[in-house]
Amino acid sequence: MTIPAAKDKPLFTPGPLTTSLSVRTAMLRDLGSRDATFMTAVKETREKLLEIAGVSQADGYEAVLMQGSGTFGVEAVFSTFSPPAARWLIVSNGAYGDRMAKICRTLKIDHQVLACEETQQPNLAEIQQTLEQSKFTALAVVHCETTSGILNPIEEIGAIAAKQGITYFVDSMSAFGGIDFSLKNCQIDCLVSSANKCVEGVPGFSFAICKRELLERSIGNARSLSLDLVDQWQVMEKTGQFRFTPPTHVILAFRQALAELEAEGGAAGRAQRYRENHQTILAETRKLGFTELLPPELQAPIITSLRYPTHPNFSFDRFYELLSERGFVIYPGKVSRADCFRIGNIGRLFASDMKMLASALREVLAEMQIPVPLN
Ligand SMILES: Cc1ncc(COP(=O)(O)O)c(C=O)c1O
Repeated sequence: MTIPAAKDKPLFTPGPLTTSLSVRTAMLRDLGSRDATFMTAVKETREKLLEIAGVSQADGYEAVLMQGSGTFGVEAVFSTFSPPAARWLIVSNGAYGDRMAKICRTLKIDHQVLACEETQQPNLAEIQQTLEQSKFTALAVVHCETTSGILNPIEEIGAIAAKQGITYFVDSMSAFGGIDFSLKNCQIDCLVSSANKCVEGVPGFSFAICKRELLERSIGNARSLSLDLVDQWQVMEKTGQFRFTPPTHVILAFRQALAELEAEGGAAGRAQRYRENHQTILAETRKLGFTELLPPELQAPIITSLRYPTHPNFSFDRFYELLSERGFVIYPGKVSRADCFRIGNIGRLFASDMKMLASALREVLAEMQIPVPLN
């Protein structure tokens, strides 16, 4: 019999993320789907999500929870908000933008992809021009493209979408709760994120925050039974319940995570910790000679992409293993045109964790006989 370690390895990844013990402990209940405590948790969760987004039901916004990981939420948006004549413009500078296009291909939704370099923000003039050249009903973009860690200009893109009078969807999976922004200022009609990103719950559901008017005019449009945000919303409104087996434990953990987010000062407070994490790992890895993929002005504080050392002894697999043996889990790179690895700054991590990771990086480079500072 192995006795479980008191503490799991910290996860310097974009998810699953390290969570607090209190969040995990909140799951130690078996509640039925009609249990009053559970139904209250669902109601409070929906209200709190609107509060974090800086909107309310009175302003015409709704929060809809959807079982499954983040991709289920994104797919539910395309499934629900694509009437027969829909045509989406998908602005993509990474794997998650590309995934939206894949969802459209799978669901046979008319769309065009405006592809940009993974290390550059989308070109606003090009977006404007593309929208003027042919008819679109909706525009989609990723907020923080976790592929590289780049922050996209969602407010400026929102202004362009609003001028065209089209639906604006933002995949804010890795940013919501960890970057302070306003749905209203960005003129967002619908946003998706998930439980185990910056709110720091455990994985198991995603959520959409959308304008009620968009939900109402989308009745009957869904191209999927389970990924129907309108039906999910209507049933939640009417009964306070999920349509199908609810992620009861995950909701309880999420309610605790929301309380902890509030205690940290909401998205603004959390953003400060994530920025500190990012600045700390950057300062430490620069001392070792690592260089970052993105210039500081494009970098979101969510995840940091660092280039591989050029030394012939470097192999990512060995680097990863040696770090993991020391108790640190990092993440492979995802950009297509540069050899990088990624260090997540989000989850229950602090500047002290970043410093410990940096010490482990130094040890691992020494073990791989790669001299520092790198060149
Ligand atoms: C921006 C973005 N969109 C979508 C996803 C997909 O989420 P999931 O892996 O939870 O399905 C991720 C995952 O990290 C993400 O960062």
